[in-house]
Amino acid sequence: MELGANSKEIREQINELFSAILMEQQKFMQIKSADPDKIDLLQRAVKDLKKFRGQELIYPYISSGRGHGPFTELIDGSIKYDLIGAMGVNLLGHSHPLYIKSQLEAATTDTMMLGNLLPYQSQLKLNQILLDSVSGTKLEHFWFSGSGSMAGDTAIKILWQKTAPKYKVITFTGAFAGRSLGMLNITQEPNYSEGIPKTFEVLTVPHYNYHDPQNSLANTLRELDKIWEKEKDDISSLMIELVQGEAGFIFAPRDFYKGIFEWAKEKGIYIFVDEVQTFARTTQLYAFQHFGLEEYVDVVTIGKALQTCGTFYTNELNPRPGLLGGTFAGPNSSLIAGEKTVKYLLEGNFYGENGRIHRLEKTFVSKLQKLELKGKISDIRGIGVMASFQVGDGSHDLTFKVLNTFFKNGLICFKGGKKPSRVRFLIPLSITEAHIEEIFKIIEDSIDEEL
Ligand SMILES: Cc1ncc(COP(=O)(O)O)c(C=O)c1O
Repeated sequence: MELGANSKEIREQINELFSAILMEQQKFMQIKSADPDKIDLLQRAVKDLKKFRGQELIYPYISSGRGHGPFTELIDGSIKYDLIGAMGVNLLGHSHPLYIKSQLEAATTDTMMLGNLLPYQSQLKLNQILLDSVSGTKLEHFWFSGSGSMAGDTAIKILWQKTAPKYKVITFTGAFAGRSLGMLNITQEPNYSEGIPKTFEVLTVPHYNYHDPQNSLANTLRELDKIWEKEKDDISSLMIELVQGEAGFIFAPRDFYKGIFEWAKEKGIYIFVDEVQTFARTTQLYAFQHFGLEEYVDVVTIGKALQTCGTFYTNELNPRPGLLGGTFAGPNSSLIAGEKTVKYLLEGNFYGENGRIHRLEKTFVSKLQKLELKGKISDIRGIGVMASFQVGDGSHDLTFKVLNTFFKNGLICFKGGKKPSRVRFLIPLSITEAHIEEIFKIIEDSIDEEL
């Protein structure tokens, strides 16, 4: 236990509090409909929040702060399965003992948010465990950020300082890199940058094409060659998500990435892999390890499941003093949780061919395949604890109708992709076989309700 204020009494009380919180949270372990007398409370709160934000909520969801494992309680007393986990954040599940412990430990320290100017031990420890986890690559440094988008901005700044005056970035169709002014240039969805000027030039080539797997690599290489021909004096780097999340989980066999990365290395183009969503979710801690691409990566961003975010980079790319900075390194509880999460994942039986993540992938995919055989869904994709599929014609309206029916029936997930839209799961590791059975019953019943 890593404590600030530390005495026998504090340690004992923390242990008691830890057990009391966990036992209380464990009461929220099965789906339940709303309490009739609290339905208004949720409706009013959702209306108020919409007014305050000026933006509609996707789901009528406001958490009570209670939940356990894959379950989350709303303020109307209903309990639902959470298969999106705040968009990939709650990999370990709600009220995971490590999350509770991290917050209690952080409460004994003398501040809440840590800064970059006067670091704490939690920064040092998380840095250490992260850099140990990428041994076997050229990545030697890591800089914390408050969001995946800011980690992406850091990545681009580092790359540009090295390659100036070459600033153009190659990316892939369907890319999502976040919503900062920098990352919006890379993010391909036009609605996310409506009315926003581009601030740097991105050159887009096709990602893997499921409809033409044989020719995918050759087609992308042909486009890369064309770009090179025209722009060779201006290209800085290539940014890729090995598994595209927002695009509905698009990923390729290893040879596709290998071919592209070898092309880039031959031209002296730096490779930036965005693992903000894939971090910890494939059969290795990093998707670049899952695909055996360790030798190629120059910059890697991570976030979400780590409970904080940041950017790995090689010593060759280490920028001159002044480029990196910023007030916050992150909340102490998040940095403590980040270290505990990485340690837990690497020491437990999560990764590898026979690890829990691969077993969950196989279970989800085989259950989805059964639904496909019954004609209820199509075009299944699953890798690690990420899975998606299409319902009906994959129209936006039908997909959201189905998602809302899932929600009503006790299952929260989200969409990915566009034309067709897809149903997307970011599965928590706390899920059991019994949960999966119940979840698939909800999926099937809900689809029957809508189709
Ligand atoms: C691949 C990828 N990169 C970057 C981001 C941006 O992260 P954040 O929303 O924390 O800024 C996301 C978020 O969904 C993502 O999926």
